[in-house]
Amino acid sequence: LADGPLKGRRILVTSGPTHEPIDPVRYIANRSSGAQGTAIARALAAFGAEVVFVTGPADMPAPGGVEVQRVETAQQMLAACETALPVDAAVCAAAVADWRVASASPSKMKKTAGGLPQLEFAENPDILAALSQRAENRPGLVIGFAAETDDLEANAAAKLKRKGCDWIVANDVSEAMGIMGGTENAVTLITQSGTERWPRMSKYRVAARLAGKIADVLTGSD
Ligand code: C5P
Repeated sequence: LADGPLKGRRILVTSGPTHEPIDPVRYIANRSSGAQGTAIARALAAFGAEVVFVTGPADMPAPGGVEVQRVETAQQMLAACETALPVDAAVCAAAVADWRVASASPSKMKKTAGGLPQLEFAENPDILAALSQRAENRPGLVIGFAAETDDLEANAAAKLKRKGCDWIVANDVSEAMGIMGGTENAVTLITQSGTERWPRMSKYRVAARLAGKIADVLTGSD
């Protein structure tokens, strides 16, 4: 482990998409690359933290020097996060699927003449809300992300309240910004004490700046 301001701190990071099975060969997914979550795990490790990196299926290689837990579904991601507790902080950067197929077929669904499959959905657990609202072993600092296309700050502030987390890193993912899948990000950090608009910078710079803020809070130098 690197020496640094987060030495001795254990931090959970969720990253990547989740895959929700339809049958053994098909799934529902989203376009998350895992780039921002991976950069955050790397930056926290570089600051000396013991990082538990819970990642859905992403192409991005996991950073070195972190404990990697690979999961597929939202339910598995929640279980892996709960197993990682207690932690000093949790950063929920994963793009968790909001719904799963209520009962995935145990065998490959067959194409039948004239028939179309009917999928029924069930709601997935909200990992960020679950961690934020725990009665026992709540992480000292819980950070969520909000990808919005409209009314960024108002929506992100409402999300902070609804989920019960401490900070929200909000980003504008309207197409014009070219953020999804890109190497840069322009974020607004919302905490109970205010709003900071950060200039556009690389996802790694966003991660390093966030890691610095986390270190300030956990070590009381803020
Ligand atoms: O509600 P929304 O999906 O916009 O919230 C985004 C934030 O919530 C992200 O931090 C994401 O990692 C987290 N989240 C979660 N579990 C879900 C849905 C979202 O942890 N099922």
